[in-house]
Amino acid sequence: MKNDSLKNWKGVACVIGVDWGDSGKGRMIDDLGVRAHIAARYSGGSNTGHTVKNKFGRFALHIIPSGIFNKNATCLIGRGVACDLESLVDDEMVQLKKAGVSWKNLVIDQQASLVMPWHKLRDGMREEFRSSKIGTTKRGVGPTYADRIERVGLRVNDLILPGFKEKLFTEIEIQNKFFKLKLDANQIYKNYLRFTKAVKPYIGKTIPIVKEAQKAGKNILFEGTQGSFLDVDFGTYPFVTSTNTGVIGIWRSFDLHPSKINHIIGITKAYSTRVGAGPQPTKIEGRERQIIIEKGQEIGTTSGRTRDPGWLDLVIIKAAAEFNKITALAITKLDVLTGFAKIKVCTAYQKSGQRVDYLSGDAQFLSECKPIYDQLPGWTENISQVREFKKLPKNAQNYIKKVEKFAGVPVKFISVGPQRGEVIYV
Ligand code: GDP
Ligand code: IMO
Ligand code: MG
Repeated sequence: MKNDSLKNWKGVACVIGVDWGDSGKGRMIDDLGVRAHIAARYSGGSNTGHTVKNKFGRFALHIIPSGIFNKNATCLIGRGVACDLESLVDDEMVQLKKAGVSWKNLVIDQQASLVMPWHKLRDGMREEFRSSKIGTTKRGVGPTYADRIERVGLRVNDLILPGFKEKLFTEIEIQNKFFKLKLDANQIYKNYLRFTKAVKPYIGKTIPIVKEAQKAGKNILFEGTQGSFLDVDFGTYPFVTSTNTGVIGIWRSFDLHPSKINHIIGITKAYSTRVGAGPQPTKIEGRERQIIIEKGQEIGTTSGRTRDPGWLDLVIIKAAAEFNKITALAITKLDVLTGFAKIKVCTAYQKSGQRVDYLSGDAQFLSECKPIYDQLPGWTENISQVREFKKLPKNAQNYIKKVEKFAGVPVKFISVGPQRGEVIYV
């Protein structure tokens, strides 16, 4: 193993999707997290669904950082997270408790916005009235961030400050009036008293923790959510989420400038998937679609919807790599491509007869792009036990080499199964 292998990573690292989400960020954080002193979430809400499979069991995490399985790591929920306490307390803490996993080192930033029941209702209502639906997860993420920007949202600290009840009741009155909701203030208050009891010991200030750890040369691991093309600015607007999913999100949550990050790891599956609406130039139809859905179990972790598979789109990966200044790539689910005689990769777009690059923030533009493919020969050997790059079938090696050459970034992590450790460190 080379010294610069991610297996020995040090300093500050982040894992950022260079796709439309669900690339295996949770599993990679679990793999890299064994070396983390700090493991931190900086973006997204419970729209996030990060699957982890390790010696403790199988987990679907939405708010709690996937580094939680390292009992020596301090796990932070940054202020940029849309903090959904219903998910955190009634789902994730329950999953962890059942498996005997402790969350004693969790710190929830006091400035994080609270996702409230009205945000989830408004998310659903807005979606119903959209002529062109986004296909949101209905987890209240858009309305929560909107309220934060409008400076009317409740934040985690409100839970423990005097006057929470009054603030909550006033807000419920406003929501009922303006959005014609029938929220029951007493019931919501009761639920939030219960949530507060569960999270109170973990509320704190996360920014000084990150700053001190960084100064002391500790290993800090940031867990991205969604993917670059769901970023509210860089992605395929309006078919995006409502947060900055890349390095900017880390800056906003933790006051940590991107130049301080040593490893900016872009992660994608060996093919692409998208769930919800919006353009995906390399979408696969027919029999191959069915094979990928079945082999890759492409069913959403949060919403249970089927994800649309596509061939790997190197044009967008390169754009995301440049945007985030990616230093390494991670490719997951290479095992799912085993058995395909030919594998396509998109190396250029054509629009109205012209070669074009990705244009950020514009779904319409991307929907008019036609993919131009290179076709590579596949492999048939079972690769799930392979742990060294050179032991992969030659055609699988060539596939990886094609990706790194095109993206201009080395591939340093290849996963061949969902369990912790089913990884080739290059
Ligand atoms: P995330 O949102 O980026 O954390 O990804 P998800 O957890 O939503 O989706 C990734 C899915 O792929 C999960 O079901 C993982 O268990 C699974 N997975 C991750 N890596 C691999 C791999 O290398 N091979 C296979 N077959 N499955 C994987
Ligand atoms: P992880 O972190 C895949 C998609 C939704 C929808 C759009 C907006 O698990 O990779 P939202 O509820 O955020 O307002 O929905 O974004 N989306 C995701 N797709 N993975 C995710 O998270 C996603 N989070 C949101 O399907 O198209
Ligand atoms: Mg997911």
